[in-house]
Amino acid sequence: MTAHTYAYKDPILTLNNISMSFQGEPILRDINAQVLDVTRPNMKQGQVVGFYGRSGIGKSVLCRIMAGLIRPSSGTVEVGQAQQAVLPGMVGFVQQRYPLFDHRTLFDNLLVAAQRKYGPAEARQHVSTYLERFGLTTHARKYPALLSGGQRQRAAIAQQLLCSDHLILLDEPFSGLDVAMIDEVKRIIVEVTTMDELNTVVIVSHDLVTTTALADRLWLLGYERDAAGALVPGATISAQHQYNLAEMGLAWHQNVEAEPEFAQFVEHIKDEIRRS
Ligand SMILES: Nc1ncnc2c1ncn2[C@@H]1O[C@H](COP(=O)(O)OP(=O)(O)O)[C@@H](O)[C@H]1O
Ligand SMILES: [Mg+2]
Repeated sequence: MTAHTYAYKDPILTLNNISMSFQGEPILRDINAQVLDVTRPNMKQGQVVGFYGRSGIGKSVLCRIMAGLIRPSSGTVEVGQAQQAVLPGMVGFVQQRYPLFDHRTLFDNLLVAAQRKYGPAEARQHVSTYLERFGLTTHARKYPALLSGGQRQRAAIAQQLLCSDHLILLDEPFSGLDVAMIDEVKRIIVEVTTMDELNTVVIVSHDLVTTTALADRLWLLGYERDAAGALVPGATISAQHQYNLAEMGLAWHQNVEAEPEFAQFVEHIKDEIRRS
């Protein structure tokens, strides 16, 4: 496959030496990663980056740190073109357990989010558009308790897309969805990142194939070994576990999953995971 022409510009999200311990137990150690605005000639190209790691490794903890909801034990997170220290609300965050207001209908839940960004008439229009795109129009008048898990998840993604300012963080966005719905969420993510040059979707997931298919950058969380071969506590991103999928020619191709180069890369990653 041929690599598309691209260039990098300003930073959008920077993780500087993030470490996190709970009660003295290291969970994350010295994590560094930077998302840059990626540009392609004559088009709007947002960013999709993936953080991959096994269950229990600390992905949700890293998400909460990136969203500014908890402070790391050390290190900093900077967001946006101004590279400000992150505060709660700056980053749209779809948590694994996605809160909706139980006493409001789905439509009104989304409207609350949209009104943080748009005027009343425009907000209603955007809500209708997102409901349509996410296949939720027929459920607009339902209360959250009456929605299925997958419907709630789609609603939560729509909600954050409606109110966030370019940067949105998805914690395990594909878990609990059937195949058709995963395709729909993938389509929506691609659509979001072609709407605005600065739109950035951070996917944190243990679904390697789906995350790799969407991302232009991929970081693997794993454990390193010391000189004696013992595992060092605290997950980190090793130098060799930072992948530029755009450079490898694996980004921005429809149906990339069907390509032999994609399958080879996924196998390579699996080997790396087994080794760590
Ligand atoms: N508030 C907390 N206090 C203590 N331990 C925590 C806390 N939050 C998460 N952990 C621990 O951090 C580890 C990583 O959890 P998590 O980030 O949820 O993993 P993942 O999302 O990769 O599956 C787990 O061992 C979990 O028990
Ligand atoms: Mg998690």
